[in-house]
Amino acid sequence: MLKIAVMVSGGGTNLQAIIDAHKQGKLSGVTIDCVVSNKPDAYALKRAEENGITGVCIRPKDYEDKDAYGRFLAQYLSERGIGLVVLAGFLVVLPANFIEAFEGRIINIHPSLIPSFCGDGFYGLKVHEAALARGVKVTGATVHYVDAGTDTGPIILQKAVYVEDGDTPEVLQKRVMEQAEWIILPQAIKMIADSKR
Ligand code: GRF
Repeated sequence: MLKIAVMVSGGGTNLQAIIDAHKQGKLSGVTIDCVVSNKPDAYALKRAEENGITGVCIRPKDYEDKDAYGRFLAQYLSERGIGLVVLAGFLVVLPANFIEAFEGRIINIHPSLIPSFCGDGFYGLKVHEAALARGVKVTGATVHYVDAGTDTGPIILQKAVYVEDGDTPEVLQKRVMEQAEWIILPQAIKMIADSKR
């Protein structure tokens, strides 16, 4: 059984997609063990509570420095037997010591087709604003492993989405979420769970 921790900072629609996939029986061999947020008011924590999933707020500012935060996070998740950490709209830069502790066991969903529109400063709406400014006709989403860089780890899955005339960043963001993110993130989790059987 692969126990996953989902790390969030906001609305949690990707978390909801994982929860829904699990309810639909698409994530056999996976347990959503806990949801960890750096924001006490993240709606994602409410989604966890509504679905009987342990939700905790672990804030970097409560630790003397990033290393202490990373050490606690690694210890907490290790003690819960977490086999895969899923970053789903998690906006904190993970400390190097945490990434080392969970090397090869952290994945992230990014709302573009990496290597386009990724890296430092490319998150949330900014990604879609850049895609529209460049005039790309196709964008999409990427699930990748997390390494020491920003959006630089090995790519696991990608899904393309057409940009449509008149798209605003908000409209494009919603289409990328609905048609790509919410589909490939549960798929990637299932692929990893199956590979560990
Ligand atoms: C998503 O667009 C995701 O691609 C990005 O942050 C956003 C999180 O949205 N990493 P939500 O919290 O899952 O609704």
